[in-house]
Amino acid sequence: MSTKLQRVVVSTAAMLVAASGLAACGANDAQSGGDGQTIALLLPESSTTRYEAFDRPLFEAKVAELCDDCDVIYFNADQDESKQTQQVDSALSQDADVIVLDPVNGAGAGGMVRTAQDAGAEVIAYDRFIEGADYYLSFDNETVGRMQGEALIEATGDTGGILMLNGAPSDPNAAQFKAGAHEAIDASGLEVLAEYDNPDWSPANAQQWTSDQLARFDAGEIAGVYAANDGQAGGVIAALTGAGVDASALPPITGQDAELAAIQRIVAGEQAMTIYKPIAVEAEKAAEVAVALVRGEDVGDTEDYEGVASFIFDPIVVTSDNVADTVVADEFYTVEDICTADYADACAAAGLS
Ligand code: GAL
Repeated sequence: MSTKLQRVVVSTAAMLVAASGLAACGANDAQSGGDGQTIALLLPESSTTRYEAFDRPLFEAKVAELCDDCDVIYFNADQDESKQTQQVDSALSQDADVIVLDPVNGAGAGGMVRTAQDAGAEVIAYDRFIEGADYYLSFDNETVGRMQGEALIEATGDTGGILMLNGAPSDPNAAQFKAGAHEAIDASGLEVLAEYDNPDWSPANAQQWTSDQLARFDAGEIAGVYAANDGQAGGVIAALTGAGVDASALPPITGQDAELAAIQRIVAGEQAMTIYKPIAVEAEKAAEVAVALVRGEDVGDTEDYEGVASFIFDPIVVTSDNVADTVVADEFYTVEDICTADYADACAAAGLS
């Protein structure tokens, strides 16, 4: 487990101890008309590792650090839009003052925002844009797509046919990743053989679709694969190796999220790159904004994004050349996390052990 995660676990444990004290306080407060504040965090799914491993614990730990009398209530929608609508209702019925919402469906989330605002809560659109939200935080998503596209152009030598696997059409970020990637790829020497919008980002769909393409194209005709995130990259690799491509002969494949499995594949030469989004920056800023809002304080300088006061952060490209300088230097992962027995040789070759 990484140092950062250990810290998160330790502070989460500290928070639980504090929270048990708080629960007692809360009861007293309720009797005396108390001032406990409730912040709801609603994340979209759990098959992408970032949400449960980073976003949630980092957010909860930061709120606990900043605010003794704030409670965080947490929900994960498991990629189910109607479940998320019910979760917003449930958060409001528990008197949430601020709703931090990473929507399953960005375009369909306007109703949830209005319901929350009508109930007197403020809404922070977390990572995915929602029109009408009070605040929005994310990374520069079009740049993410452009960086992925440019990395693929470089890794393929700017020639040959590629497959493209985009994110879920319901996720507004996915459209931005796709637009950024196309901006680079359409102006390059690469030819898109086939393209797919994965309805739920799932690795299983990515694997199935790639297998279907291998019935149309020889693996040797595929010079590279644009996968919008690491989960899908894993599905692509399973399809290619399942069709007999040796792990050492995979074409360049992109990704996003700096999942541990992807960093290991990058070190082993099985995936060309990923995009590292320092989630601590995003989750902790969201916690700061949420706490400022429950206290009625100023949230600091924002920028405008489509009419919503926003905080937009910079993504970082990770290849085998800079694993040490990025995710390891940031304590997102330790060398021990990455260099398990299976990756010991690759790590040694990459100077990581
Ligand atoms: C996007 C998000 C990515 C990733 C993806 C699902 O909206 O920006 O970081 O979580 O969903 O893999």
